[in-house]
Amino acid sequence: MKYFTVSLYNMRKFGVGKEEIKSILSDFSCPLNGDVEEFIRCKAYDFDRVGLARTNLIYTFSEDDKPILVAFFTIGLSHVVIGDELSKNDKKRIFGTTYPIGGTLKTLLIGQLSKNYKNGNNRYITGDVLMKIVFERIRKIHQIMPSVVTHIDCKDVFPLRNYYEKFGFHMFKKSDNQLVYLMSTNRIVENTVSIR
Ligand SMILES: CC(C)(COP(=O)(O)OP(=O)(O)OC[C@H]1O[C@@H](n2cnc3c(N)ncnc32)[C@H](O)[C@@H]1OP(=O)(O)O)[C@@H](O)C(=O)NCCC(=O)NCCS
Repeated sequence: MKYFTVSLYNMRKFGVGKEEIKSILSDFSCPLNGDVEEFIRCKAYDFDRVGLARTNLIYTFSEDDKPILVAFFTIGLSHVVIGDELSKNDKKRIFGTTYPIGGTLKTLLIGQLSKNYKNGNNRYITGDVLMKIVFERIRKIHQIMPSVVTHIDCKDVFPLRNYYEKFGFHMFKKSDNQLVYLMSTNRIVENTVSIR
């Protein structure tokens, strides 16, 4: 199956109007995760407009060649604070290096990602394909804006932990019901990520 990605940035740049973009986003459905659904419907447009994060829509084609919105992902910037308690081994495992990278580290954030459950469109894509497309984008970003680690915040539920860990993300911190997952961006770029 072939996929193509359209960024909100390019939609705006090539003259697609605010109302049209918002109408596409408001039709996205993610009953498994209310935060994700609220983000894509209500915040993604403005986050993109002001430069807080870039959202990308993933499409495929139906049998009669109509574009179908199957998923989205959002990339932005964040940071983590690294305590002294981490051992050298932990640092190597989580950050991919023991080089002194400082106490506060800027990170590349996969802010949101989801399949589109509207009309059963989620059946046209898997989480593995979605992450592969996200990693391809990170490889491009890394050429001009490097980062030590790629970062994901997620709810502490088994399916999501399982999903991120199988790509090699390491749990860095847990606060309340939120988990901070990190993976060395070099690892993503060097294509050493294999799905466990
Ligand atoms: C995360 C995701 C891309 C993974 O896709 P996938 O690898 O193809 O896996 P599946 O969609 O088949 O999900 C696997 C299981 O996890 C469950 N699951 C997925 N997201 C979940 C969530 N946010 N909360 C609870 N359970 C979830 C699914 O219901 C499924 O359960 P089942 O095996 O009992 O049917 C996809 O499940 C998704 O889009 N989830 C909703 C959005 C989301 O939560 N994004 C994470 C933001 S941090």
